[in-house]
Amino acid sequence: MSETVLVTGGAGYIGSHTCKELNKAGYFPVVYDHLSTGYAEFVKWGPLEIGDILDTERLIQVIIKYTPAAIIHLAGSAYVGESVIHPSLYYRNNVQGTLSVLQAMKSTGIRNIVLSSSCAVYGIPSEPFIKESHPQVPVNPYGRTKSIIEHMLHDFAYAYGIKAVSLRYFNAAGADPDGEIGEQHDPETHLIPLLLDVAAGRRSHLDIYGDDYPSEDGTCVRDYVHVSDLANAHVKAMDKILNGGSYAPCYNLGNGQGYSVLQIVRAAERVTRKKIAVRLAPRRIGDPPRLVCDSSLAQSELEWIPQYCSLEVMLEHAWKWHQKRYSLLGISAQVPPE
Ligand code: UFG
Repeated sequence: MSETVLVTGGAGYIGSHTCKELNKAGYFPVVYDHLSTGYAEFVKWGPLEIGDILDTERLIQVIIKYTPAAIIHLAGSAYVGESVIHPSLYYRNNVQGTLSVLQAMKSTGIRNIVLSSSCAVYGIPSEPFIKESHPQVPVNPYGRTKSIIEHMLHDFAYAYGIKAVSLRYFNAAGADPDGEIGEQHDPETHLIPLLLDVAAGRRSHLDIYGDDYPSEDGTCVRDYVHVSDLANAHVKAMDKILNGGSYAPCYNLGNGQGYSVLQIVRAAERVTRKKIAVRLAPRRIGDPPRLVCDSSLAQSELEWIPQYCSLEVMLEHAWKWHQKRYSLLGISAQVPPE
C-alpha cells in the first residue's frame, strides 16, 4: 500500500509540483491548504483539505483522518520584500504556523517531517558558492523566520525523536514539463513571471531593482532551480527519513550557477523571441547581491540529481505554462495602465 503524505501548502507553486512528484514515486499526497495563495485546481493527485496551519485542532483532525506517514510542510509566507514591510505576518505564518504543525505532529505521534526552508537564511554570504555550514545571518525577516523554524525542528528532533529534513531552496523557476501546473502568484513579484508578462504584452516593462551591486553588470545574481527538480528533492528527502534517517539535516537545492537579473532578461528575450523593456528602479530592501549554492551534499546524501539544469529549459517551461494559463483564463494581452 502506498504511504500517505500530508502536504501543507500543497496547492501552491512548489507544493503542487511536489504532489505530482510524490504521486509519480508511489506516495499518496493529501493537501492541507487554506487557499489564500494556492489554487484548488492545482490539487490533482489526492484530496484537498481546506485549513489553516495556525488551526492546530483542524490539523489534528486531518492527521487522524488520513494517518499520514509524514508531513511535508511548505505552507507559509514567502516574499522577501513583503516580509520587510509586514514582519508580523511572517512571524505568525512561518514561526507560529510551523510550531502549530509540530504540535499537531507531537499530539498525534507523527514522527517524520520535510521542511521548506530557504537560502534567505544565509544573509549576505562570504563565499561565492554557499555550503550548508555557512553562518546564518539573514538580512530580511523572511530569512530570519526560516532560520528560526529550522532551529525549532532541530530542538523537536532532539527532544521528541522527530525525524526531519530541511530543504533550503534557492530560486524556484520553470513549470511542470507536461504543462499541468505552473507558477501563479497574486500579486506577482517574482522576476521570471514578471518578465514573461512583459514579453506577453501584459506589462509595459520590468523594473530592475538596482544596478550598483558588486556583480559583473551590477544587478543581483541568483541560482535558479527548476521547480520539478525541487519537487523531486522532497521525494528523496521523504525516502531518506522513512528509511531510517534520524537527525535533522539541512540541504541546499540549487544548480550552482549564478545568473544576474540582466542575464535573465536576455535569456527570456531569446526564449520568447520578444523584446523586454526594462527600467532602472531603486534597490529592493532585503535583497542580497548574490546567492549561489554548492548543492553537493543533497546530491551525495539524498541522491538528488537535477534533470532540468539549463536556464533556457526552465524559461521554456515557464513560458509554455504562462501562455497556457492565460489562454485557459480567456484573457487577452493588455498592458495595464501605469
Ligand atoms: N527583481 C527585479 N525586478 C523585479 C523582481 C525581481 O529586479 O520586478 C530582482 C530581485 O531584486 C532579485 C531577483 O530579481 O535580485 C530575483 O527576485 P525574485 O523576487 O524573483 O526572487 P527573490 O530572490 O527575491 O526571492 C526568491 C524567493 C524566496 C527565496 C529567495 C531567496 O521568492 O522565497 O528567492 O533569494 F527566499
